[in-house]
Amino acid sequence: MDRKFDRDTIIEAIRRVPLLSPSASRLLELTADPDHDLSQTIDIVKCDAPLTAHVLRIVNSAAFGLLNKVDSIDRAVAYLGERLVISIALGDNAGALFNKPLAGYDGEKGALWRHDLLTAMASRQVSQKARVELNAGLAFTGGILHDIGKGILSDFLHDTAPELVEQLEKHAIVDYLEGERALLGIDHAEAGFEVAKCWQLPEALQMIIRYHHQPQEAPEAYRALVYAVHVGDIIAMMGGCGTGADTLQYPLDQRYSDYLDLTFDDLALILLETQEEFRRIEASFHETKEN
Ligand SMILES: [Fe+2]
Ligand SMILES: [Fe+2]
Repeated sequence: MDRKFDRDTIIEAIRRVPLLSPSASRLLELTADPDHDLSQTIDIVKCDAPLTAHVLRIVNSAAFGLLNKVDSIDRAVAYLGERLVISIALGDNAGALFNKPLAGYDGEKGALWRHDLLTAMASRQVSQKARVELNAGLAFTGGILHDIGKGILSDFLHDTAPELVEQLEKHAIVDYLEGERALLGIDHAEAGFEVAKCWQLPEALQMIIRYHHQPQEAPEAYRALVYAVHVGDIIAMMGGCGTGADTLQYPLDQRYSDYLDLTFDDLALILLETQEEFRRIEASFHETKEN
């Protein structure tokens, strides 16, 4: 395969990615702090008028079927929960990265967002099976952000997906990441890590993004958390929610069992439960977008 672009061109494009809004940044910082409480989340949302409006629109959407209209942001955040509020803030903010069609992966518009949301839900559940205590909120947020690099690389991969799939079938490359590196000199985990650094995300989130396909290489302090998202990502793909041509073209690192106490039955249950949660949440996002 011929190199299409060089790494520096991609890094330059990453430097041009818009920064997150202050409220989204602060919400992400908060998830990294295990001692925070819901009132801090509410305070951040209150200071951001468009976010407040969007949260109220979602809680009052038909998907939640509430009989009485919720008009206080305190009650809306308490009802939706912090995880969903962060998803809304990130969707509003980095929507350009999450929501565009993933042409370079043969993925349709919205595929990355759906994959990220399902990965987040699965990662949170997996994190509760870790052999050490993990911050489940961080696993969720890491799940949302783990593939952020694909939003960047997609533009440069253009129509290379069929070529990459062919290389995979011939076993000329071991996984999609190797194909990305051959064509662009950088893979989506590294590109995402560069975005994470620009956004000054908490270190745990940076590590999840950088090592979600190679959890064994993550620093020991973050390894169990990275494994949770690694497995959550595979569960999302197994559930039929990938991002296009690369779906299930990444190996599962079997050493996850050193960090996670996860049986096959647990995996099947998480797959089922997250699909159900996902359908409900996705419907609420969908409705408010159409209104
Ligand atoms: Fe990935
Ligand atoms: Fe993924």
